[in-house]
Amino acid sequence: MQTDISVRHLYKTYGDGFQALKDINLEIYRGEIFALLGPNGAGKTTLISIICGIVNLSDGEVEAAGFDIKRQYRQARQAIGLVPQELNTDSFETVWNAVSFSRGLFGKAPNPDHIEKILKALSLWDKRNNRIMSLSGGMKRRVMIAKALSHEPQILFLDEPTAGVDVELRRDMWEMVRQLRESGVTIILTTHYIEEAEEMADRIGVIRQGEIILVEEKDLLMSKLGKKELRLQLQHTLEKLPGELTLEPIELSEDGHELIYTFDSQQEQAGVARLLRTLGDLGIEYRDIQTRESSLEDIFVGLVHE
Ligand SMILES: Nc1ncnc2c1ncn2[C@@H]1O[C@H](COP(=O)(O)OP(=O)(O)OP(=O)(O)O)[C@@H](O)[C@H]1O
Ligand SMILES: [Mg+2]
Repeated sequence: MQTDISVRHLYKTYGDGFQALKDINLEIYRGEIFALLGPNGAGKTTLISIICGIVNLSDGEVEAAGFDIKRQYRQARQAIGLVPQELNTDSFETVWNAVSFSRGLFGKAPNPDHIEKILKALSLWDKRNNRIMSLSGGMKRRVMIAKALSHEPQILFLDEPTAGVDVELRRDMWEMVRQLRESGVTIILTTHYIEEAEEMADRIGVIRQGEIILVEEKDLLMSKLGKKELRLQLQHTLEKLPGELTLEPIELSEDGHELIYTFDSQQEQAGVARLLRTLGDLGIEYRDIQTRESSLEDIFVGLVHE
């Protein structure tokens, strides 16, 4: 796998002495969608801003597309598109001009066909001659994305891309991000919508108080840390959990109608079969069974509060 971003022993202390990042080590591979999750103030925007050369690092090394972000700033920056968290689009410019101009800033020759393609993909084509200040918030966010894509970057950062965007547009944006990935673009996104990471990401990194506490393939993460819950609706209420069951990770609901069994999704078969056999032996009958898998949200909340 080719590495598109490499972060080694990165530290950041802001001017006021606040240490925002501590010994960050991270590799992002070409063509993947990497979701960076973490609570407010964890350091996500700081990390992205450093890789994009907007904020200076205090110590460590960062390469983007094979270029050192300090010594080869221009080449590194040219390979990157950034959609920042804060919208700064109070512009008298038209959508078309702003996006075309942004391409020029990176020293790329004009390419109206490319600009047309991204504006159409972002449903901004009808608004191309409107001033940006006259657009809605969601449209402004799409203009930010169009600007970030204007110079055909290899790497795209999306810092909270869908904050304040309606559900339909969010789906459209997910679709667009997937298409970009298919065209070979490496995508790093931060989000507070965990379903977004669950839906999109190939790998997930969790950052907490300036430290990366976990990096894992999403599917592996969900099977490793995921829990399943089995609920059995009982034919007859139980007053208390029979002694035979007290060693299991099982609970009796307050009204005595339900048994709730929680297990690791990896060792499911063994435990469930044993439980059902034990219930059979005890003559406990049930009317219905439901299972539920933990979501990335459950896992994330568990990690961050650990
Ligand atoms: N210019 C600055 N000077 C001092 N401290 C800063 C500066 N910018 C950010 N910080 C602090 O660094 C920490 C990380 O901020 P950052 O914006 O990277 O968090 P974040 O993970 O992006 O949070 P959010 O989810 O709210 O966007 C916070 O405690 C923040 O107050
Ligand atoms: Mg942020």
